[in-house]
Amino acid sequence: MKIAIPKERREHEKRVAASPETVKKFVGLGAEVIVETGAGETSSFSDDEFKEAGASIAGDAAAALKDADVILKVQRPLTEAEGGPDEVSLMKKGAILLSVLAPTQNKDQVQAYADAGIEAHAMELVPRISRAQSMDVLSSQSNLAGYKAVLDAAAVYGKGMPMMMTAAGTIAPAKAFIMGVGVAGLQAIATARRLGAIVTATDVRAATKEQVESLGAKFIMVESDESGDGDGGYAKEMSDDYKKKQAELVFEHVKKQDIVITTALIPGRDAPILITDEMLAVMKPGSVIVDLAVEAGGNVTQSKPGEIVETSNGVLIVGHRNVPSRLASDASALYAKNLLNFLQPMINKENGALEMDWEDEIILGTGLTKDGKIVHPLLTEGGN
Ligand code: NAI
Repeated sequence: MKIAIPKERREHEKRVAASPETVKKFVGLGAEVIVETGAGETSSFSDDEFKEAGASIAGDAAAALKDADVILKVQRPLTEAEGGPDEVSLMKKGAILLSVLAPTQNKDQVQAYADAGIEAHAMELVPRISRAQSMDVLSSQSNLAGYKAVLDAAAVYGKGMPMMMTAAGTIAPAKAFIMGVGVAGLQAIATARRLGAIVTATDVRAATKEQVESLGAKFIMVESDESGDGDGGYAKEMSDDYKKKQAELVFEHVKKQDIVITTALIPGRDAPILITDEMLAVMKPGSVIVDLAVEAGGNVTQSKPGEIVETSNGVLIVGHRNVPSRLASDASALYAKNLLNFLQPMINKENGALEMDWEDEIILGTGLTKDGKIVHPLLTEGGN
């Protein structure tokens, strides 16, 4: 089995889908690994480290991909229309592609994988079952994003985070409010606490109250009988009545906050608006918001992808794109491990061949295309 790792070519992407550690493991399992030259450069992995781990280095994407049975990527393949080389055209028929593929937003591209005879697996669709936790790319990357969001806030916040009692006087601790406490939000709470902030948090899913409190933060709760629990541990969209109550509560709370981190997402929909123009207008000058949902439409009305916006009353809204890529080395190492954990059970220990088990719910959950056809229910039945 030949496994190829091409360099990521999309803008704002510094990660790579393998690390020297995972290359070594794949080689140990009997695979031949080909890494495109420079693929690890922006994640601090050199060609030499990959070579030492047992990979061979290919001079360009075409050379890396041409004979590969398995292709490991972070972002979906580039197309010519997107300024590519058309990466799919460099892959051989029958190749297996593992990547984050955003299939519902890119149906035409999924059709292109089917037409090219590629078996594509969308890694963000790994089901949230305990057996698959070690393969969960959303968790491994969101955790880092939650951590980095707090550091990004601290970097532009013009005051200190912890309480400091000095001879010259006392500095009050920052008040941080985390909105949405999934994987990213929980890590944001832990990070803000470690920096010494006084932390509050909110979510629509009831189970999060205990998690927030166990991290030493205070839960801010909307008084309602409505449950925000959707399928698979994710949130659902709330009623207008709930949204109104939530807005009133948040309006009063954000007036007193110094740092707000928003992480709220709803699968298959635009991110919910949590911070409105009215709320921004009552926030303190110098306060900072980091909108981690900015690329999914944003949780904050005035956030802009890739920008730090300053509102008319001096609130900074940070909207960095691709936050996990801002910690490229760790993010790549964990993502690479997720892919290794996904493939390892499918590798025949006797002969090193890859045998994808299409009866397995994990493979069924991720598999988009097979034998020239689109097979995933998200695309064939238009729902999940
Ligand atoms: P996510 O990234 O989809 O959303 C982030 C958070 O925003 C969620 O906690 C969600 O409830 C919240 N949210 C959505 N709408 C909101 C609103 N209007 N107001 C306030 N908050 C709102 O979520 P993520 O991080 O993917 O985690 C979802 C759940 O899945 C968590 O309970 C997590 O612990 C669980 N999980 C389970 C795994 C497993 O069993 N293998 C692996 C990873 C996560």
